Amino acid sequence: MCRPKKKALPYDQVSALEKKMTTNDKESIISLQNLQVYYMVGGGLFSEPKFVKAVDGVSLDIKKGETLGLVGESGCGKSTLGKAILRLTEPTGGQVFYHGNEITNISQSAMRENRKHLQMIFQDPYASLNPRMTVGDIISEPIRTFGLSNGKSASEKVQELMETVGLSRRFIKRYPHEFSGGQRQRIGIARALAVDPEFIVADEPISALDVSIQAQIMNLMEKLQAEKGLTYLFISHDLRAVRHLSDRVAVMYLGRIVELADGKEVYRDPLMPYTKALISAVPVPDPEIEATRERIILKGDVPSPINPPGGCPFHTRCQYAIPDCKTIVPKLVEIKPNHQAACIRISAEHPDIDDNVKMSLGVAGN
Ligand SMILES: Nc1ncnc2c1ncn2[C@@H]1O[C@H](COP(=O)(O)OP(=O)(O)O)[C@@H](O)[C@H]1O
Ligand code: SF4
Ligand SMILES: [Mg+2]
Repeated sequence: MCRPKKKALPYDQVSALEKKMTTNDKESIISLQNLQVYYMVGGGLFSEPKFVKAVDGVSLDIKKGETLGLVGESGCGKSTLGKAILRLTEPTGGQVFYHGNEITNISQSAMRENRKHLQMIFQDPYASLNPRMTVGDIISEPIRTFGLSNGKSASEKVQELMETVGLSRRFIKRYPHEFSGGQRQRIGIARALAVDPEFIVADEPISALDVSIQAQIMNLMEKLQAEKGLTYLFISHDLRAVRHLSDRVAVMYLGRIVELADGKEVYRDPLMPYTKALISAVPVPDPEIEATRERIILKGDVPSPINPPGGCPFHTRCQYAIPDCKTIVPKLVEIKPNHQAACIRISAEHPDIDDNVKMSLGVAGN
């Protein structure tokens, strides 16, 4: 597929130009409709099977050329959602559309064609690279599998890719253990790029790296996005990295999306209490604000997705919970323009939960 090439721009300029067009105006590359992934655990001759509801009814559009950040605590279902989009994990229910075509039930051989365009970058570059293969073989494997060298030798294409991701061509015969963590992640990125993808799920791509290397990999991802028009689902529990890279941010809790908005908006005005707590934990660069800002401590761990709480899944940890929260499942609805949240205590008319609490206590306006 031929796509117009964009010249790489520094981050701020990319933001200014690209982000002028709101992400909502753009075409969807991936659409999810009520996607579910349940893992069967336990169960045998004498016991009922149990299911981990890792993804429990996610509907979402990922727009062409955007980076959608996906955040949430460990165990919320982020990786499962990413893998289910690429069908590396089979969905239990719901639908995945790629450019409007449903790919949920197509055969694995038909899915193989789509894999040229849908790729994944993993958290642990070492575990995802075959230690017995040279870098050249690792990167050229997908090129050979899909017959993609386009007249050039696979070796030439591999060397170009190595340069694209900032690795010297001289390293082509080396093995993964001869590289640093950051270099190994560059190899993983080169391998993902080998098939000329359109959409990449990047699952915690910087979490295993030293802080000093994280920025380099994020810059590389931005450069590649600008040059190749890539679309990313950027999964991370590091909210600072997500703020830096993402056009929009989706917040996940116990298999569901509980808030979705433009990146800056989520950080400036989080609406749903879980998002408020996550954002309040992100340090602010200004020391004066940092010293005085309010932090909301999240009590306890994410409940088991085998037996998730009824009603709002967050009610067991929410400081704003009322009895209705135990029974009513909040829908993800638009509270402000392009800003959706799932909480029964907020609405388009009354978006601020703290104001609503004051109102319910009869202290508003005092
Ligand atoms: N293959 C699997 N079999 C059973 N449970 C799984 C499997 N993979 C993940 N899970 C469970 O699904 C839930 C979501 O996991 P995951 O998608 O890895 O979350 P995250 O990436 O947000 O940490 C967790 O409770 C996890 O233990
Ligand atoms: S619905 Fe209730 S429990 Fe859930 S976030 Fe809102 S106030 Fe908290
Ligand atoms: Mg994960």
